[in-house]
Amino acid sequence: MSTTSTIKTLLAPAVETIAPETLALAGGRRVLLRPVTPADAMAEQAFVGALSLESRHKRFHTGLHRLPPDLLQRFTNVDQREHVALVAEAEDGHIVADARYVVNEANPSEAEFAIAVADDWQSLGLGRTLMARLAAHAGRAGLAALYGDVLTVNRRMLVLMRGLGATLRPHGQGPHIARVAFELGQAA
Ligand SMILES: CC(C)(COP(=O)(O)OP(=O)(O)OC[C@H]1O[C@@H](n2cnc3c(N)ncnc32)[C@H](O)[C@@H]1OP(=O)(O)O)[C@@H](O)C(=O)NCCC(=O)NCCS
Repeated sequence: MSTTSTIKTLLAPAVETIAPETLALAGGRRVLLRPVTPADAMAEQAFVGALSLESRHKRFHTGLHRLPPDLLQRFTNVDQREHVALVAEAEDGHIVADARYVVNEANPSEAEFAIAVADDWQSLGLGRTLMARLAAHAGRAGLAALYGDVLTVNRRMLVLMRGLGATLRPHGQGPHIARVAFELGQAA
């Protein structure tokens, strides 16, 4: 059996994609949380390009400022099963946040997450809500854990994750990176 069919077998059979949801943020701005689609390619590229160097470094652990074509294709053509991706769309159509997970081929009971919120939209509750939605969906999909590698200087992300019930796991990459994980069923 191929790795892909092994993953398909292990994931819950018929989990609905995450339903679009309008979210009112602190300060009165509103966003639409919805699954990413291939039509989002330009908006996704613009979102990444507009992130500050600090946010890009925290998200990608590099200074990457433009998604190469293959990565852009991968980010916007997702099956919402092995690769689940949500974006937050502002009222003007811009993407202002992106949260996703990819099931680990070597251990399909777990998936690795990543998230970024546009700098002007941070500290309004968007990151927390997106992570909570992603973790709830991963639980419904039958995953046992969602994990991610967070720079230890990234206090905000570590506080957010702890607040949602995540725990620290040992990580071999040195003291500058922490592996944080939701053991699913415990996330908000
Ligand atoms: C980390 C990130 C995703 C958080 O998203 P956000 O929308 O800014 O976070 P929220 O507004 O939901 O806040 C989440 C928690 O962080 C904490 N927080 C917010 N601002 C903070 C700050 N400046 N310093 C420390 N903690 C802070 C709060 O305790 C908040 O918890 P609360 O909801 O109980 O108050 C966002 O800042 C970001 O995209 N950063 C750059 C990329 C990144 O770091 N990605 C994560 C690596 S995978």
